[in-house]
Amino acid sequence: MRAAVYRRFGAPEVVQVEDVAIPTPGPDEVLIRVHASTVSAADHRTRSGEIPKGLRLLAGFSIGFLRPRRPVLGMDAAGIVEAVGSRVTRFRPGDEVIAMLGARFGGHAEYALISQNGGIAAKPANLGFADAVSVVFGGITALAFLNRVCTGPGNRVLVNGASGAVGSAAVQLAKHRGAHVTAVTSAAHRDLVLGLGADEVIDYAVSDFAANGELYDVIVDCVGNAPFERAAASVRPGGALLLVVSDRKGLFGAARQSRASGKVVSVASVPYTPESMAALSRLAGSGVIRPVIDRTYPLADIVDAHRYVDAGHKAGSVILTLA
Ligand SMILES: NC(=O)c1ccc[n+]([C@@H]2O[C@H](COP(=O)([O-])OP(=O)(O)OC[C@H]3O[C@@H](n4cnc5c(N)ncnc54)[C@H](OP(=O)(O)O)[C@@H]3O)[C@@H](O)[C@H]2O)c1
Repeated sequence: MRAAVYRRFGAPEVVQVEDVAIPTPGPDEVLIRVHASTVSAADHRTRSGEIPKGLRLLAGFSIGFLRPRRPVLGMDAAGIVEAVGSRVTRFRPGDEVIAMLGARFGGHAEYALISQNGGIAAKPANLGFADAVSVVFGGITALAFLNRVCTGPGNRVLVNGASGAVGSAAVQLAKHRGAHVTAVTSAAHRDLVLGLGADEVIDYAVSDFAANGELYDVIVDCVGNAPFERAAASVRPGGALLLVVSDRKGLFGAARQSRASGKVVSVASVPYTPESMAALSRLAGSGVIRPVIDRTYPLADIVDAHRYVDAGHKAGSVILTLA
């Protein structure tokens, strides 16, 4: 099969399209014929080694220390089940699925493996493969973080980095739950976030949300520049700071900061389960989380896709097509 392979960390050019063996599913695994994946912020971080401060050593156990542990990137996939292992009961060949492969990666290839007990669910029937995969990485993350708090009518939610894959899903979810949503983004993405349902927009080049005296019930930081020290004063007493990105200090300080401040400070990664993916699939199928696609690249142009994502200003998802 054709796959985008990288054997050392570095610039986009370390990725090359090669022929590699089609993986064989183990007893609990599902082999997906991948039709579309995305090139995500996680692919950028993993390939380039641009890991939040103080976390490179910890990340090394997952991504590799001297060279990549897993040669094919791609955290998500939408496609058709090609084959299943002997113990798989939930899927069969021919099923159309979406999958969050997570730290195991492998979506930038014509075939990818995932456990039937991992982040895999039926694809929404009303979405094509590209639209369906576009909601996976950001949607599953936004859903998991927002599920850690109660957001509803009367709540004020601020999403920092509202135009990205996670931010655009967080805006839509918070709005769906009835919250008043403030989106922090650049002028270029103002109309996009308003179209997703944001009630107010703050242009981060013009105004600092953490210094405008406003209070929010929930702040979701999808950028990594709103740690507790900067953003906590803008969270109402009893409210929550959801740090989708955090460095070592943020990761290990969150529990203590929660206890000391009486505000929920939530960090860390997201578990990918069949249940969470099924919930995401329903939200996407019913139009609550709509696809936001910036650009689409064929597998042959994988280096250009990485270059574009490296710039850090994509809106929603960058799609990679494999079929
Ligand atoms: N904890 C977890 O499990 C988990 C899961 C998924 C992702 N993540 C992390 O979450 C982060 C976001 O992921 P993503 O996929 O949403 O990334 P993304 O799609 O690349 O989006 C990043 C967004 O940040 C915006 N941005 C850049 N500088 C900004 C600033 N100073 N203020 C406000 N917005 C700014 C950009 O918008 P403009 O173009 O308008 O500047 C861009 O849309 C990444 O660091 C990723 O590694 C963590």
